[in-house]
Amino acid sequence: MKRKIFKYIGLGLLAVLALLLGGYFLVKRSVHNRTTQKYAFATERLHVPSDSATLARGRHLVAIKGCQDCHGQDLAGKVLNDDGALGRLVATNITSGKGGLAQDYTTDDWVRALRHGVDKTGRPLLLMPSQETTLLSAEDLGAVIAYCQQVPAVDNPLPANSLGPLGVLLTHFDKIPLLSVEKIDHTQPMLARADTTEGVAMGKYLAVSCSGCHRPDFKGGEPVVPGQPPVPDLTSAGHIGKWTQEQFIQTLRTGKTPAGHQMNNENMPWKMTAQYEQKELASLYQYFRSL
Ligand code: HEC
Ligand code: HEC
Repeated sequence: MKRKIFKYIGLGLLAVLALLLGGYFLVKRSVHNRTTQKYAFATERLHVPSDSATLARGRHLVAIKGCQDCHGQDLAGKVLNDDGALGRLVATNITSGKGGLAQDYTTDDWVRALRHGVDKTGRPLLLMPSQETTLLSAEDLGAVIAYCQQVPAVDNPLPANSLGPLGVLLTHFDKIPLLSVEKIDHTQPMLARADTTEGVAMGKYLAVSCSGCHRPDFKGGEPVVPGQPPVPDLTSAGHIGKWTQEQFIQTLRTGKTPAGHQMNNENMPWKMTAQYEQKELASLYQYFRSL
């Protein structure tokens, strides 16, 4: 009698296991298809000037948009994560050195990556925040590309991306922003140029870079990665509603809040916000206060 019960329990567990495994393989195949599917987009013509003002603007944008946090200070790329669970995620060497962008990587290829989130062949770029870079004005996009195209070539061959089981599941349940190509409105035309006078409009344009963590409505929420602190509300309902513009700017330059809390750059990239110009931080403050 007892033996029979154990036999049924055992069979039941096996059936559950089989279902879970089957489910996982379906999810894995679906994610595999999504990451290897080829996309084609109409090429947009972009003017890439090479005067010194444009290069200086490009250099500033590369610093404040976090390109170097992922692609490295010299843009020669790096392995961002490598473990059995999440997998190996690698930011490309985007210089023209060994292991870098192909010799025939054209301005159109740059536009494809930054506007549409796919590589030269139309394969989706993983983790590259193209849903943000796609919103850069044509003028700023041209400046970023102009700057990147002339950085010194660095030889740095890197291994390929590969997703682990946790990476597959998190992607399936949309818990990590892996496939920006799926999040972009590919028909949205490029803004010609952004407002560069201090104020709410400029703040709104810049705040795109904060939306990935602080959420599109800037109300914050759950930690971006489990184990990190929750993401604070940046609207006037949060601390910013009580801070002066000076206190806000000081916080983003030093990582230390008016309450004396020193933020870790790994959680909140304040070494990036420290590089914003005064009028850019002032504009961000004015925009968040208007929400
Ligand atoms: C969150 C990390 C992250 C940030 C920030 C980031 N990138 Fe990337 N980027 C990646 C990763 C990862 C890849 C490789 C994706 C792949 O091959 O699947 C990539 C790929 C690229 C490529 C495509 C190379 C190719 O194969 O066609 C270019 C170009 C690029 N990034 C430029 C930039 C620029 C310029 C910025 C700043 C405006 C930037 N990236 C910001 C992570 C990032
Ligand atoms: C990679 C994710 C990430 C990005 C990108 C990011 N933040 Fe944060 N931010 C955080 C986290 C997490 C905290 C909380 C850190 C802590 O509690 O130590 C935070 C805290 C803050 C705070 C302190 C708020 C408070 O109430 O204490 C401000 C201000 C802030 N961020 C502004 C910005 C701005 C402006 C941008 C865009 C230019 C930005 N952040 C981009 C993750 C991010």
